[in-house]
Amino acid sequence: MSDTSNEFLGQNRVFSGVQPTGNLHLGNYLGAIKNFVKLQDNHDCIYCVVDMHAITVWQDPKELRENIREVTAAYLAAGINPENHIVFNQSQVKEHAELAWIFNCVARMGWLNRMTQFKEKAGKNRENASCGLFAYPNLMAADILAYRATHVPVGNDQKQHLELTRDIAQKFNNDYAANILEAGHGNSTYFPITEPLISEGNDARIMSLRDGSKKMSKSDPSDLSRIVMTDDSDTISKKIRKAKTDPDSLPSEVAGLEDRPEARNLVGIYAAVKECSPQDVLNEFGGKEFSAFKPALADIVVEGIAPINNELRKLMDAPDHIDAILKQGSEKARKIASKTLSEVKEIMGFIG
Ligand code: TRP
Repeated sequence: MSDTSNEFLGQNRVFSGVQPTGNLHLGNYLGAIKNFVKLQDNHDCIYCVVDMHAITVWQDPKELRENIREVTAAYLAAGINPENHIVFNQSQVKEHAELAWIFNCVARMGWLNRMTQFKEKAGKNRENASCGLFAYPNLMAADILAYRATHVPVGNDQKQHLELTRDIAQKFNNDYAANILEAGHGNSTYFPITEPLISEGNDARIMSLRDGSKKMSKSDPSDLSRIVMTDDSDTISKKIRKAKTDPDSLPSEVAGLEDRPEARNLVGIYAAVKECSPQDVLNEFGGKEFSAFKPALADIVVEGIAPINNELRKLMDAPDHIDAILKQGSEKARKIASKTLSEVKEIMGFIG
């Protein structure tokens, strides 16, 4: 992109991560993973299973292990290629934790105090939130900057964290400008000012099938509220059939979806899977009843998602294979991250 500080890398390096916290769903796929797959065509991509972010809130060890494999299987089933790119889990590359500590000393309390995700996740009981939950954005900055990634595909909810990553990079570059030059890193910018990549698909906020005003969520008590990435064709169809709607037929213009959250969500899902605009969907279905639209939606989702889900379930039956891919990916990742860490430590005045 236009930012000159990224040019010294001479490449477009993409980094992104998904937390292994279970119930991976259609929103995760359409909002993130689907876009990760596309970026492989013209970027070097590093896709991480951010298991150390997951433990900022309690994780049952058995479930954590299963969930790490599930995110990995989702990456692979969706079409991420671990040979040409890198797929790994964060805890296998200790440099993430090491750089996060350094960034704990770069980032300011005031910056972290402004993070809306911490406020949401900690809720009223802040005294009882883990220190890791508060420092979460610093670990995320470390994930990205350990690879000096230039581009990060993220959803809207992560934009503020990415801003913080940019602030950390900037402050590090400023505080150590002279040392960066002295250590021979060309101009005085060591870390790139990473750009967010918000894909068109990311705008499609995938909402609960039971309540169009709430995001589709792994923690909703109702299984009918989400399509998960282990659902088979029948289950997908059933959940769409039971999805909440309103009594009217579909409008012919998107403006007519304004106050109809359920209708808007179902049209949005159709558009996201088919990669067209909501207006395109309404051009076809405007004036039709849900009884006509829902079967068409079920067909589209089954066609687009069921093969990925089937592959995911197959991969989950071969945990050794998944673990081997993570190990191999971690070795590739560590080569890059350890070089960054030794340069950073030299710049900062550490010995050895
Ligand atoms: N915080 C991100 C989320 O919850 C996950 C994440 C961790 C991430 N490290 C990252 C995303 C680095 C992009 C880049 O969705």
